[in-house]
Parts: sequence; structure tokens; C-alpha cells
Amino acid sequence: ALAQTQAAPKRKAAIPPYQKILKKFEDVRTILGARKLTLAEKILYAHLDNPEESLLANTDNGRSIRGNANLKLKPDRVAMQDASAQMAILQFMTCNLPSTAVPASIHCDHMIVGEKGADTDLPNSIAGNKEVFDFLESAAKRYGIEFWPPGAGIIHQTVLENYAAPGLMMLGTDSHTPNAGGLGAIAIGVGGADAVDALVDAPWELKAPKILGVRLEGKLTGWASPKDVILHLAGRLTVRGGTGYLIEYHGPGVDTLSCTGMATICNMGAEVGATTSIFPFSDNHIPYLKATGRDAILDAVKGVAYGSEKYNFLRADNGVEYDQEITINLSSLEPHINGPFTPDLSTPLSKFKDAVQTNKWPDTFSAGLIGSCTNSSYEDMTRAEDLVKQAQAAGLKPKADFFITPGSEQVRATLEDSKTLETFTNAGGIVLANACGPCIGQWKRTDEVKKGEDNAIICSYNRNFPGRNDGNRRTMSFLASPEIVTAVSYAGSTSFNPITDEIPLPSGGKFKFQAPKGAQLPGSGFAVGNPAFLPSSADPDPTVEVVVDPASDRLALLDPFEPFPASELEGLKVLYKVKGQCTTDTISAAGPWLKYKGHLPNIAENTLIGAINAATGETNVAYDDDGSKLSIPDLAKKWKEKGQHWLVVAEDNYGEGSAREHAALQPRYLGGQIILAKSFARIHETNLKKQGVVPLTFANKEDYDRIDACDTVDTEGLWDVLQNGGRGEVTLRVTKANGESFSIPVKHTLSKDQCGFILAGSALNLLAKRGQS
Ligand code: F3S
Repeated sequence: ALAQTQAAPKRKAAIPPYQKILKKFEDVRTILGARKLTLAEKILYAHLDNPEESLLANTDNGRSIRGNANLKLKPDRVAMQDASAQMAILQFMTCNLPSTAVPASIHCDHMIVGEKGADTDLPNSIAGNKEVFDFLESAAKRYGIEFWPPGAGIIHQTVLENYAAPGLMMLGTDSHTPNAGGLGAIAIGVGGADAVDALVDAPWELKAPKILGVRLEGKLTGWASPKDVILHLAGRLTVRGGTGYLIEYHGPGVDTLSCTGMATICNMGAEVGATTSIFPFSDNHIPYLKATGRDAILDAVKGVAYGSEKYNFLRADNGVEYDQEITINLSSLEPHINGPFTPDLSTPLSKFKDAVQTNKWPDTFSAGLIGSCTNSSYEDMTRAEDLVKQAQAAGLKPKADFFITPGSEQVRATLEDSKTLETFTNAGGIVLANACGPCIGQWKRTDEVKKGEDNAIICSYNRNFPGRNDGNRRTMSFLASPEIVTAVSYAGSTSFNPITDEIPLPSGGKFKFQAPKGAQLPGSGFAVGNPAFLPSSADPDPTVEVVVDPASDRLALLDPFEPFPASELEGLKVLYKVKGQCTTDTISAAGPWLKYKGHLPNIAENTLIGAINAATGETNVAYDDDGSKLSIPDLAKKWKEKGQHWLVVAEDNYGEGSAREHAALQPRYLGGQIILAKSFARIHETNLKKQGVVPLTFANKEDYDRIDACDTVDTEGLWDVLQNGGRGEVTLRVTKANGESFSIPVKHTLSKDQCGFILAGSALNLLAKRGQS
């Protein structure tokens, strides 16, 4: 019913503001002289708000920028997915601006369930999330954000097809935003509050990443695919190996890869902890831009990339040095299978059979799933189609359940036209909606696998942490290319190697797959698909009312936080003293709570529920002055009601784990004013300051032992520090229940800007104030 045969849509191509970017780049060259720059550095530094300030402070006068400089960046655009967009938009609304400062888009993909197939799953999911979609759509129309409705596609695929361009710098409220690096953009995954910085034209801060150069040599052959490049690299780097680095691909192998293949590689760079990944502008970007109706970008890019020796903007300077370098020979790369439970447990296909035996992994795959934001390109799908056709000709059907998730309506409609989807469904495959579905736990399994039962699945997605796909923490999820997933789905066996092994035929013969063949792009461009899936206009409409039902339990408008009192903080009480690790998940649990991301009072009910009480060893058990026992959120609410502000005391690396702005918003909402820890995870420390919470660390870590729950705390010197833009010392006066009192010295990392956030009550309060003046 959705079939369309139109040529690529004549949407106006979104062209990065190259003139502005190149002007900044000239400034950067003037400041840094003859210093050689990598491609990523060029694009990043050309987006600095004030290049001189960022590049010369703390950098030995520009000699050691990477790893040291504090970059204040002005991105060109922002993309938000539906789950994280809720809080981003609610925060943006508190600034009272008529429209976003930079182009932005919202993509409804994370809340769509995968079960029986797109035709039934999509309407059911829309009905179940209607108030959230209505809110996002109305806000998008009011503020001039392009709204891609449920069914339009997955954020990263839609961005690649419509917004990504060489030299662009963008933020996205999703970890796999780096997908756009496949088309030469710097695209970084962030939280909602960071996205709001860009939406209101405030500089977004980033510690200048070090650059990891990955040199590609040779050419992929046979079964090896771009996915195997990143599966292999994840094994070499591990999930932490890219932290603090930006991965820049280069070398002769780059030009052998398709644009969508490069996007797959950049997408999954998030799994090694890298800030982002990028490919240089290459010949294979040209047909992709043409096929997606963006010839205009090619004209604009000419002057930037090739037009002038002076610019040479879209590639690294010759002879530039990387902080670390890895070489991968594509010609000898074999397919890999990664997992279970972590994306860096990487096994070459030829060794996987042995690994299954050694580790006693299940004998069978219960399901094979292809597509997602990582691997749903025309090339991926036509190579999988080729394998299905081979097996079908031999009379075989997949033994495992087989699911296909197209990444966008454009890809889906094109695959419908080319009869690729028909080939999949004839083989028993189920085509799910153009959305995240099983990749993010939105998979309603209808097979016989019970919750808590060991089983193995194989998918072409990017993440495989426990519970990620079906909510069953015992499901072992293995990651591979769509080609490998498709082939092993026919055998259903975890020890089947499609390159060497045969499948017995009912007739008695044997069947062996030939290496897959596909096409990078459809011969006559992409189809439009269902026009109902095209986005709303980017023109703001002030007459649109943003829809939030006051009775909703999923959405609540935000009230701005109170400004800092014009004095020291007095009479704070210790709500809880946390023992041991305290991650962002401890502070704001995920799972079922994600439903309440747009409703701060409701999601605050999970605040610190994973935290261990240092005095009793209990989890989520707090005690009031009078000895009464409550959950942590209940005690916080009780204190909030009577106007009792509080602090939390914690150990090392408070707020580690995935960047989650709710972990800062919730304590602030419940009346928290200080977090006092032995040390902080850097991103969370910044998030606290943005929300108006003061992060302090013990000058002497042993003082952690002297302070307890329900102690009273007054600050001494904090008010002066805030007045003086971060200069000065702070001590805390601690008073015990028995009247005993002592001072402990503490440290802070408040910059001048951050003092402004705290004084105003939050970074957004400050921006709103500036907007009004
Ligand atoms: Fe969605 Fe999975 Fe990608 S959740 S954005 S398809 S990583």
C-alpha cells in the first residue's frame, strides 16, 4: 500500500554555511600558522565561537591543543530522537525564544515496537505514545524544527539522507549520531541540555579530543563488509579504547568504501567510546549525494574541497601526525562476530565455531535481525537479498526467525520497488517499521523464548548489552554484518560458517552460499515513499499551541529553578551518604523509567534508588532526623515540601557511566544544592553545574569518614567564589546532631561561566535572562 515510484524528492538540499565556516577556518590558520591539522581538527576548529580564546588558552600557545583546549563550539545543526527530544524541548521552552537558533530536526523512532510487522506495529505504537508525539510535533511546528513523524525512519539514516554533508558540524541527542561522519561531517552524540546550548546559540563546550588515525589499506572482498572494519576495530580498542579520542579514517582504502559503508563504520565508533568518527570527502560521496537529490551540495563542496590550495578544507594536511595510529588491511579482513553482552568481544568468523564450543554458547540462533540505523543501506539490503535468493533457489527457508528493519521510508520504498522486500517476505522474513524497534528493547517477541531463558540471537545492530534487544538479560546478542546474519539465519546454528560450510537440502544434496553481491545505490535514485512521512516545515509558526495535557503522567512543563540565594548556603542537610560506585544509572535508573523522560516529577521518583547507604549497607534506604525509614526519593520529597535543602555525600567518580542529564536534573528538582564527592566523572560534573547544583570535592578524602547523613552543612566562601567568577576557597562547616561542629576544606572547578549558571539557578535561566535583556 505504501509503494511509490517517484524519483528522489525535490526537497531543498540542506547546505552547510560554508562561507561562514571557511571564514572561521582562515582565522584558525592565521592563529596557528603553519601547524599541520587533521581533517577533524579543521572542521572542529572552524566551528569555534572564538578561535583565539579556545586555541591559545591552556595549550602552550597553540602547541598542544588536543587533549587540553576547551573548545567552545557553534554547531551548524541539531537532530533529536523522540525519547531524548522531550527533555531537550521542555528545556528549550523555558528560554522563551520564538525559534531555534540553528536548523533542527526531531525523529520519531525510539518508541515504535517491533512485533508482527510495520502495518500493525506502527499504528499500535502511535496510539500508545500519542501524547508524546503530539507534543513533539506541536513544539516542532511552533519553533521551526523539522518533524519526522513515526514511520519516517531512524534518526541517523534520515540525517545521512538529508542533512549530513562534508564539513558540517552537528549535535544529535543520541549516541550513534557519529553515523553522519560517513559523509564527512563531525557529528557528536550529546544529552538534551547540550543540544539546547546549540538551539539557543550558546557555545557548546568540548575538551579538544585527541585524534586516533585509522589508516585503511587494500579493498574488501567476498564476504567482508564495512561492518567488519568496525567489529574488528572494536576488538582491538575495547569499549574504552576510544575515550577522549576522535577517530579519523584515512589512507587508500577509504575510496574503496561506499558512503553508507563509511556511515556504518562511524556509527559503531560509539562502541569504543570515541567522541565521534569521520571519513574525508571521497569520490563515493558523489553518487550518494546525487542519489539522495543533493547535487547542490556537490556544487557547494567544490570550492571547499578542491577549489583552492588555501582551503584544502575537507582533508587532512599532508604529513599530519595523529596521537595514535592503527592500520587495517581491508584485503585480508575477514567477517567478524562480536558478543555476547559486549560489542568488543570480537571473534573472526573462522574461529567462531571454536569460540561457541569453548564458551558453551547456545547451539542455535533463535532469531536473525538485519537493518537498523547501523546497517540498512541499499547496499546492505541488496547483498542480503542476493543470499536469500540463492537459498530460495535451493528450496531453503531460514531456520531462525528473520526480521528486517529498513532505516528510512526512502530506503524501504526503494526496496519495495526493487522487490527486495518481497524476496524477504517470501522467505518468511518480517519487515518491521522504519524505526528502532528491537534495537532498543522495543521487541515484543512472539516466539517460544521465555524471559530469563538463555538463548542466542544475531543482528546487524551496534549494541548488545544484556537486555538491550528484548528485555531478557539472558539473551546473548551477537553482532555481525547483514550478510552474515542472513546466511546464518538459514542454518540457525551458531557454529555454521557460510564461507566454508554447507547446508543439507531436503532432497539429500548440499547447498553452499556464494559470496554476496549487491549494489551500492539504486540505478534510478531513491523513491520518495509515503508522502505522509515527509517532515514538517522549518518555518516557525507562533500561532501553534504546544500541546501538554496537565493531567499527563509522561509530560510536564518545566518551571525554571530558583536562583542562588544572595548569600552563603546555610542549614543544608545530608540527605544520603553513598558508599562505593555511584553511576548515572544509580542516580537515574533507565529501563521502565525511560517512559517518564518528559515528566521530571515522575522520573524523579527513581532518584538515587540504586545508591548504597554508607552507614547501613542498605540500598535506597534513607533515615530522617527522627530515625524514620524512607526511600531516598521519599525523604527528598519530604524535605522539599518543608523547604529543607540538601546535599549528597559520595565517593570517587560520582556520575560515571553514560551521560544522562536526568541524573543532574532530578536531584536539583528535589531540592539538592550540593554534591560533595571524593571525585566526579567529568561530564556529570559539568551537567550538575548546568542545572545549578554545586559539585564540590573533599580536599582531604579522609573527611568523607567524618560527615554523615542528617548532618547540617553551611558553606563558607562559596558566595564569594561565585561573585568572583570562580576565584577563592570554599570550606564547609559541618554540625552533628549532638552539636559538635568542625570545618572541612573542599575544592571546586567552577569557571566564570559556570558561576553564572549557579547564580542564575541553571544555565538555561541565564540564557533566558540574556535573551530577555
Ligand atoms: Fe535506534 Fe538502535 Fe540506532 S536504538 S538510533 S536503531 S542504535
